[in-house]
Amino acid sequence: MKQIKFGVFGLGRGMSFVNNMLACNCELVALCDKDEKLLAGKKERYPGVALYNNFDEFINHEGLDAVIIANYFHEHAPYAIKALEKNIHVLSECTPAGTMGEAVALVRAAEKSDAIYMLAENYPYMKFNQEMRRVYQRGDLGKVLFAEGEYNHPIWGDWVADLCPDSKHWRYHMPRVYYITHALAPLCYITGAMPKRVSAFPVSCPHTKESFGSDLYWRLPDRSAIVSCFNDDGSVFRVTGWAQFGAEDNTYRICGTKGQIENIRGEDDQIMLRFNSCDQPEGMKHVNKYTPEWNIEDKDLAEKAGHGGGDFFTSKVFCDCIREGKQPMFDVYFGTTLSAVAILAHKSALEYGVPYDVPDFHKEEDRVKWENDFSSPMWGSDGTAPTIPSTELPEYVPTEESMAEYDNAVADYYASKK
Ligand SMILES: NC(=O)c1ccc[n+]([C@@H]2O[C@H](COP(=O)([O-])OP(=O)(O)OC[C@H]3O[C@@H](n4cnc5c(N)ncnc54)[C@H](O)[C@@H]3O)[C@@H](O)[C@H]2O)c1
Repeated sequence: MKQIKFGVFGLGRGMSFVNNMLACNCELVALCDKDEKLLAGKKERYPGVALYNNFDEFINHEGLDAVIIANYFHEHAPYAIKALEKNIHVLSECTPAGTMGEAVALVRAAEKSDAIYMLAENYPYMKFNQEMRRVYQRGDLGKVLFAEGEYNHPIWGDWVADLCPDSKHWRYHMPRVYYITHALAPLCYITGAMPKRVSAFPVSCPHTKESFGSDLYWRLPDRSAIVSCFNDDGSVFRVTGWAQFGAEDNTYRICGTKGQIENIRGEDDQIMLRFNSCDQPEGMKHVNKYTPEWNIEDKDLAEKAGHGGGDFFTSKVFCDCIREGKQPMFDVYFGTTLSAVAILAHKSALEYGVPYDVPDFHKEEDRVKWENDFSSPMWGSDGTAPTIPSTELPEYVPTEESMAEYDNAVADYYASKK
């Protein structure tokens, strides 16, 4: 089996790919981050691996076959495009594109490239989601009519400073709905349905000092967004963005014509599978509860990997696709569709639920409608200011004053740790 020489761009989350890629017979050859402190820490740990602080030099590293793109959340597309132009395979963290215009450019670049493009969406590969796909695809539930997906991950306390180091960081300004892939991708993976129309309402609640138990918290009031997707098979999904309500969990439920399946809230990997009494398959009860097991050769690797095994599978599927010369299920069309759902859901939320059609990125006539839309609620790392609000409550749009307050709180936090 050919060894795949890979590099990692963005050494926060990006480093969590290294062991999983190595387990798939890959060789780490280059690392890149503009943060010199992060780079310096890698010298001893990865002797012989080239270290770069500049993407253009990194992507020209001799013999690079594949890159993990894990820089700032909303800035993946321009770097993925540069890699694709060099026929270097791309495994991109979420979200594939921060604007509609970039989503169009990314699809066009992927179509011209000989390389594999894959969205590194790991939640579908969690054990219970793989089980739900197995059951759904077997046909026991009939045809999906309705499904729900929740990615609920409140953050509090000092952790905030590490995740969101300054008031221009993407996490400070990101509308909750932009981080939609963890809630939505599992439903698409399980059922095969893809959104074609979207509308959303934000769930807002101004923060107070008490609400997060610390001086440090994002100053934005949006705690979630409730997004409805009308799909290409006539089903409807209801999903959150990155929700911040109590209590933390990520849960999914698929309702078909004959029955429904869900991972039980608060019960780890447990599944509940229920049928209409008239539609019970042989050997099944009306209500069935069980904990699925991995039924795969690489069980030990999956058990060791982060995010319930999901982190192993993103690397494995990516490497298998490179070796077999085929695009993955989470290809550029899948990825950009999810980015478009997020961006258009935010536009919808800003207009109190006005629905938007999700473009079919296979079609040039759909792409041209959005190719010049680069509106964004987040700061660019080149200093570009947001062009649309990050929250629908005008009185809570971040001001220079509130941003300065946040930066002071972070500075105080780090000073207190010295
Ligand atoms: N799938 C998951 O479970 C999961 C978990 C965590 C994070 N993520 C995603 O991974 C990505 C990274 O997350 P993070 O928490 O590490 O983000 P982060 O903002 O904390 O870190 C990004 C890193 O990229 C570097 N960087 C940014 N622009 C650069 C440039 N032009 N040149 C060189 N280096 C640059 C920064 O210095 C920083 O070290 C995000 O898209 C996030 O959504 C996914």
